[in-house]
Amino acid sequence: MPKGTVKHYHDNFDFCSFLFVSLFVWAIVSSSEACPVACNCLSNQKWECTNITSLGDILENSSRAVRELTLIHITDLNSFSDHLGTSFNASFESVRKFTIQQSTINRISALFIDSFPNVERVFLGDNQFSCSEHILTLQRWESKTRKDKLQCSSPDGVAKTELFLALKTISRVKEECPSPCRCVVKSMNSQYSVPNLLVNCSRSNLKVIPDSLPKSWVIELDLSHNQIEDASPLFSLPFYRNVPVLNLAHNHIQDIQVPNDTSQKNHFRLLNLSHNKLTQLPENLLGETDTFSYQPLIMLRSNPWMCDCNSVKMFQTIAMKQLHIIGDFIYLTCEGDLEGQLISSPTSLHRLCYVPAVAIMTIRCVNIVFFILIALVLIKTAFDLRSMYAVGIFHYFAHLLLLPSR
Ligand SMILES: *[C@@H]1O[C@H](CO)[C@@H](O)[C@H](O)[C@H]1NC(C)=O
Ligand SMILES: *[C@@H]1O[C@H](CO)[C@@H](O)[C@H](O)[C@H]1NC(C)=O
Ligand SMILES: *[C@@H]1O[C@H](CO)[C@@H](O)[C@H](O)[C@H]1NC(C)=O
Ligand SMILES: *[C@@H]1O[C@H](CO)[C@@H](O)[C@H](O)[C@H]1NC(C)=O
Ligand SMILES: *[C@@H]1O[C@H](CO)[C@@H](O)[C@H](O)[C@H]1NC(C)=O
Ligand SMILES: *[C@@H]1O[C@H](CO)[C@@H](O)[C@H](O)[C@H]1NC(C)=O
Repeated sequence: MPKGTVKHYHDNFDFCSFLFVSLFVWAIVSSSEACPVACNCLSNQKWECTNITSLGDILENSSRAVRELTLIHITDLNSFSDHLGTSFNASFESVRKFTIQQSTINRISALFIDSFPNVERVFLGDNQFSCSEHILTLQRWESKTRKDKLQCSSPDGVAKTELFLALKTISRVKEECPSPCRCVVKSMNSQYSVPNLLVNCSRSNLKVIPDSLPKSWVIELDLSHNQIEDASPLFSLPFYRNVPVLNLAHNHIQDIQVPNDTSQKNHFRLLNLSHNKLTQLPENLLGETDTFSYQPLIMLRSNPWMCDCNSVKMFQTIAMKQLHIIGDFIYLTCEGDLEGQLISSPTSLHRLCYVPAVAIMTIRCVNIVFFILIALVLIKTAFDLRSMYAVGIFHYFAHLLLLPSR
């Protein structure tokens, strides 16, 4: 019994002294080194900071000593918030081991990376990476980062792609992108690392079509809302030949020269030429499309089509033969005399092609009348000549000459 009491007492003492010593140590540590409010300073060299906005939040004199820094849920890896950025360059130069967790990494500045000039190991697991050109700076840490299971989480096309592979592709595509266009990786085949791209040159004040494209597979070229007048390069330059979606809406295109050679044909699936200045259907544009293994779609509305019997007939024939090839056929209207008239309407065709027939009838009638008149004049002249020979004086003047003598 007493033995037991002694032991109990002893246990209690151990526990108390442990608490006491811990408190003492903690007091010494916290008094000797300031620990930022957001951080749990396990020692003056090892910090774990949670829910901070930016690095500026934990920047103090004491951060000059920290060697192992863990940031859990940091919202801004781009700025130092209200701190003046440049004065904090390399401000965490003591850090050797750096971890970011439970954060969304969608933008990371060079200054952020520069803040850790001597870091040796970087741990980035358990984060959401939004892979775009805004996080390309992360590539500077590639050799120091534990790579296992680091994947992009967005955007859709690159989700699940290995992080540094995606970044490498994004930076290559960025270099190859024709200025002033923006190249967006729409999807990536992680096995072959062949990206599918959108080359977006929309609203870039372009007057001509760019003369290069990235070497990856461009699945869409958006050239809409520019001042392009000539779209022929899309049909003559080989690298445009396999771009499936070509958007040229809202430009100043008046004509397109499409080569006659079928082996050089562009194999677009969607060609948007709406809101341009086309007056005639470009020769060869639709001519050979019925030999494609699929039916392409062409958008042609809001162009000033010049309507005559032949062109309207051609439009209607194409629409009959290849239903839906002109996606907006029923909205196409004429310019000029027939302004506003729908090209698809049978009455347009009727008016254009049968009005001349009426004119021909009229001309024929007039011709017949002329013929009759000329015949009458000839008959009259013959009659007059005959009477002249008979009377010895020309019929017209006979009365005048014969009257006075009467
Ligand atoms: C951090 O913030 C999240 C919500 O944003 C909260 O659930 C969590 O408890 C916070 N952690 C700390 C240590 O304050
Ligand atoms: C940081 O150090 C400077 C001198 O180097 C000192 O004046 C300042 O008070 C310190 N700041 C804090 C928060 O300890
Ligand atoms: C930070 O300093 C390093 C050299 O110490 C320099 O290379 C880098 O450009 C600086 N970064 C900024 C944002 O000033
Ligand atoms: C191209 O960028 C413009 C903004 O500049 C945007 O409005 C348009 O939707 C983009 N095109 C595509 C196909 O995403
Ligand atoms: C295509 O051939 C036609 C004659 O078949 C010719 O009039 C036209 O100029 C040619 N177009 C081109 C772009 O070679
Ligand atoms: C073609 O461009 C016009 C104008 O920008 C747009 O309204 C239309 O939706 C586009 N059509 C297709 C099929 O992309």
